[in-house]
Amino acid sequence: MRMRKKRHLEPRMERCAPVLLARGRPMDNLKEAAENYRALLDLPQIFGNENPVELEVGCGNGAFIAEKARRFANVNFLAVEICTNVILTAMERVLAEGIPNVRFLNIPAEILPCYLPPHSVEAVYLNFSTPLPGSTHARQRLTSPRFLAIYRDLLTADGRIEQKTDSEFFFDDSLAQYEACGFAVEDVTRDLHHSEWAAENIVTEYEANFSAKGLPIYRAVARVRQ
Ligand SMILES: C[S@@+](CC[C@H](N)C(=O)[O-])C[C@H]1O[C@@H](n2cnc3c(N)ncnc32)[C@H](O)[C@@H]1O
Repeated sequence: MRMRKKRHLEPRMERCAPVLLARGRPMDNLKEAAENYRALLDLPQIFGNENPVELEVGCGNGAFIAEKARRFANVNFLAVEICTNVILTAMERVLAEGIPNVRFLNIPAEILPCYLPPHSVEAVYLNFSTPLPGSTHARQRLTSPRFLAIYRDLLTADGRIEQKTDSEFFFDDSLAQYEACGFAVEDVTRDLHHSEWAAENIVTEYEANFSAKGLPIYRAVARVRQ
């Protein structure tokens, strides 16, 4: 079901300008855009400090990134979300709560290299990305080889991806892709909420829904292999 466009979307987006770093697609061809278009952000200048930067891809309503930023005031957070209707909620949340260390990009993750300098990010969070089973949409999966190549270039030498999902298929496919694409898999659990990482876990909107249905949550870390 398509989500109805939010009321007063454009004026509300304008009010979010202080936390919105980029919006839209610079070109129709995403591959060409990622290779040829550059509007690289000066992250220390934007955040006003040299703190490490972490990135969530597909931030949804922003509950995760807002809580992360509250818990870790000495880390700067970026959140990417393709859907304007959705990122608006996340940005309004961060502005309303006066959280200083989060900024947003309303772009497809495919063009992150247009905006983020190489090796500028210490962690990439993938929370409940759409599993897209079957071969037709395999390239769109956020852990497909083309996305892993993008994250690898953005991550620092010992950077990591942290993934959570409710989909066993997507999880197993992702673990195989990590190993094949230059990442070492660690800290794997197939039942996060009953694992050693449960206490520090920040529950996302989708995670709460899946968990309420009794589904286990899968979680892994994939670290850049030296
Ligand atoms: C299933 S939702 C999960 C939202 C949130 N992370 C959570 O756990 O509650 C996945 C989100 O990823 C976004 N998304 C999907 N593909 C994307 C892409 N290529 N670039 C940026 N965002 C994307 C979708 O618009 C959607 O909001």
